[in-house]
Amino acid sequence: MTRPTPSTYRVKSFGCQMNVYDGERMAEMLAARGLTAAAEGEDADLVVLNTCHIREKASEKVYSEVGRLRREDGSRPLVAVAGCVAQAEGEEIRRRTRDVDIVVGPQAYHRLPGLIDTAVAGGHAVDTDMPADSKFGALPGRARRAAPSAFLTVQEGCDKFCTYCVVPYTRGAEVSRPWGQIMDEARALVDAGAREITLLGQNVNAWAHDGRYLHDLIEAMAGLSGLARIRYTTSHPNDMHDGLIAAHRDIDKLMPFLHLPVQSGSDRILKAMNRSHDADSYLRLIDRVRAARPDIAISGDYIVGFPGETDADFDATLKVVERIGHAQAFSFKYSPRPGTPAATMDGQVEAQVMDERLKRLQALIGQQQHAFNLASVGRDTTVLLERAGRHPGQLIGKSPWLQSVVVEQGAIGDLVDVRISAAGPNSLSGVIAQKEAA
Ligand code: SAH
Ligand code: SF4
Ligand code: F3S
Repeated sequence: MTRPTPSTYRVKSFGCQMNVYDGERMAEMLAARGLTAAAEGEDADLVVLNTCHIREKASEKVYSEVGRLRREDGSRPLVAVAGCVAQAEGEEIRRRTRDVDIVVGPQAYHRLPGLIDTAVAGGHAVDTDMPADSKFGALPGRARRAAPSAFLTVQEGCDKFCTYCVVPYTRGAEVSRPWGQIMDEARALVDAGAREITLLGQNVNAWAHDGRYLHDLIEAMAGLSGLARIRYTTSHPNDMHDGLIAAHRDIDKLMPFLHLPVQSGSDRILKAMNRSHDADSYLRLIDRVRAARPDIAISGDYIVGFPGETDADFDATLKVVERIGHAQAFSFKYSPRPGTPAATMDGQVEAQVMDERLKRLQALIGQQQHAFNLASVGRDTTVLLERAGRHPGQLIGKSPWLQSVVVEQGAIGDLVDVRISAAGPNSLSGVIAQKEAA
């Protein structure tokens, strides 16, 4: 069956920041091909569901989303499933639902335009290749306008094979993009209005190219005059080298924030997770980072209820969290993922136990986050304004420590001097500093 050629599109991203970045690149590619973005709330001829496979709940979402795309008259848009579910399930998606026309994996989405042509002609449009040539060289240049805070993927894939995780299978092996290509893209983003760039990778601190490392890249990027702030995420403890730690001391534009997942505080569980670090080495690493940059905000990821996790193991996690003192952190119930070693391990933890552990962990992290926010009150700092607030005239931006700050003046894209006036559990209020007369 042939279908009409789409002229409007919408891309919906459900996953991590890298998945959001991929969504932006797909949107730019469709725009470069002459399609226009469907307005908010309006029907699109082509919908790209850019999916995430990390936990079961995220992964199943795609099917309810597909169902929701059916219109009242029974018709539906051209539907593409992209992202990590596409990679993991491939053909299976089209067996489960006939309402998907295109399946395209995270390393093949530069071929989306061709797949659209194939689908329109009624052909077979499934592409989950991991081609040797990286997609990046085949993508069009970045859009002419960028948000104040922009993402830039520098590293893809993962070779770590934590026993619970699908990423090494959905994203493939660790690959670093070349230096020149990244710097060109950074310049394009700054020219397009970005004031902050977040360098992305599943293991971003493993980035290396021609004998240069992530801190070299950050240093070079700090030389771009229009760029005010640099961040990077997500890092792995085993790739957190001295040069990067020193960069937190030496490079002003590098923001004092580190997302460094430890996952568990129990060495026994860390071993079963194949994390190849223990709790103590992680804590010593945090101490070294704090010695270099005392005010650094530490974020992390935790999994509760990994197979075999006992009360004592969980207590060890709480202890580690107490030792760290997070500015924020993410925590998840363990979700068994098809094809991963942990899914078939003995000692799967009951849902009720997981719920209870997650609640306790989140309460502790929440307290720490609130305490971190309260400690910011009275500080003079900078805020990059990123979006409109709830009330007229209000704007929301980010502090250097990635806290959301609400201010009453300014324009999106401004980097303003602010005194923090109040703190809640999830955000701060700030007053714009009056500029002294020149
Ligand atoms: N590469 C990053 C994280 C990628 S996934 C890193 O290693 O730090 C983001 C987070 O999802 C992980 O840090 C982990 O906490 C969580 N996660 C991954 N697989 C999971 C699973 N099967 N169940 C629950 N949480 C999981
Ligand atoms: Fe997944 Fe571990 Fe790789 Fe992170 S390091 S992406 S958790 S396998
Ligand atoms: Fe999800 Fe894939 Fe990112 S599984 S977390 S979208 S790498």
